[in-house]
Amino acid sequence: MADQIRVLVVDDIPETRDHLTKLLGFESDIDVVGAAASGREALEMAARLIPDVVLMDINMPDMDGIAATEQLASIVPGAAVVMMSVQGEADYLRRSMLAGAREFLVKPFSSDELTASIRQVSARERDKQSRIAVTTMATAGPALNGARSGEPGEPGLIVAVFSPKGGVGRTTVSVNLAVAAATELGKKVVIMDGSFQFGDVGVLLNLNPKSKSIADLIPELEAGELESIDTFLINHTAGIRVLLAPPSPETAEMITAGGVKKVLDRLRADHDLVVVDCTSYFNDTTLAILDAADVILTMLSLEITSIKNMRLFLEVAEQLGYEKGKVRLVLNRADSALGIRVADVEHSIGRKVDETVVSDGRSVVYALNRGVPFFLSNREAQVSQDILRLARSVVGGQAQADTVDAGKSTQKKSLFAWR
Ligand SMILES: Nc1ncnc2c1ncn2[C@@H]1O[C@H](COP(=O)(O)OP(=O)(O)OP(=O)(O)O)[C@@H](O)[C@H]1O
Ligand SMILES: [Mg+2]
Repeated sequence: MADQIRVLVVDDIPETRDHLTKLLGFESDIDVVGAAASGREALEMAARLIPDVVLMDINMPDMDGIAATEQLASIVPGAAVVMMSVQGEADYLRRSMLAGAREFLVKPFSSDELTASIRQVSARERDKQSRIAVTTMATAGPALNGARSGEPGEPGLIVAVFSPKGGVGRTTVSVNLAVAAATELGKKVVIMDGSFQFGDVGVLLNLNPKSKSIADLIPELEAGELESIDTFLINHTAGIRVLLAPPSPETAEMITAGGVKKVLDRLRADHDLVVVDCTSYFNDTTLAILDAADVILTMLSLEITSIKNMRLFLEVAEQLGYEKGKVRLVLNRADSALGIRVADVEHSIGRKVDETVVSDGRSVVYALNRGVPFFLSNREAQVSQDILRLARSVVGGQAQADTVDAGKSTQKKSLFAWR
């Protein structure tokens, strides 16, 4: 059948190959077309069999799974690799993703996890192929402006605020962007703290860490009986709603990629804009957020480590099949030069920076210590104007003025612009 998913199994242990082949034999939409015992054999078989998905072990003699994945990209570019490993470390995951793998399974995994991953990567690859076929690749996003946002019944926009390096201002920008979109652009906005282990959104907004969090919401959504998510969201006086990260790192470990996807689907159904403050490392939950996002605001700063990681991330984004307009580069503290110029950064990463936000330690730290977003406490500051420009560029917007109106009455009027 044309829409069968053709899978090639690659593992040096014969029992594992047999087991996986048998397991997948029960799935009517999956067809195991071959099984290879090494990276080299995998390349030879893939060239012949043109699989849709390659289930690849990492540790194998002769050529390991990472090297084989790298070479596979030029031999069968349409094949999506699901990497399997007994080691789940972030470094393995990152190296696999850089080599071009689309998914990462840590052994032992359940047959449900396995089949879900195969279906997911294959659907994503098909989707990517059809997009390549029909579009002439629009830059930035007309889709990001106006149309989706604000129309009742239309799903809202998911904006992931990500950076491949910590401490570059993701939480600061996420929170203020959310507030700007709500108060100035009249959007119904929710911010989700996607930094599940050490989330700071609640701190910046001065919220009670004992409030309900995503860890309470996921089981309810998975049970399928939840009518309203309102009791899991905090209505903040800044005009936004907040979905907090779990209260402890142990609870954070229970959060799965599937759960995150459900939460995002639900949040986007109820809001114009969903801003997600992400962590800086790749794991399956971060990937689920980045996949679901319409826009990834990728933050960087004028530091050599930030620039290096950005280069790596842009390669991963390409491997993941994200179209160019989805990833937007935001340079934070753009004026704090310290020897590196914006042009140097652009040259080094081979791409223009899309948006900049100035450095303003006074406003930012003052606001942080008071638990009030600077967009509210210091609206006339350049840093607030930069955030508003960013908000407009992401969600489009009805606000006419190009500069921020510092008037208190405007602020009050537009607070709680959503119902
Ligand atoms: N534009 C700015 N001007 C001045 N200071 C800033 C600016 N943006 C962020 N900062 C400061 O930089 C520090 C890091 O910011 P923030 O916590 O938002 O980064 P992050 O990427 O979320 O970090 P983490 O990796 O801890 O999650 C904070 O002290 C914040 O106040
Ligand atoms: Mg943060």
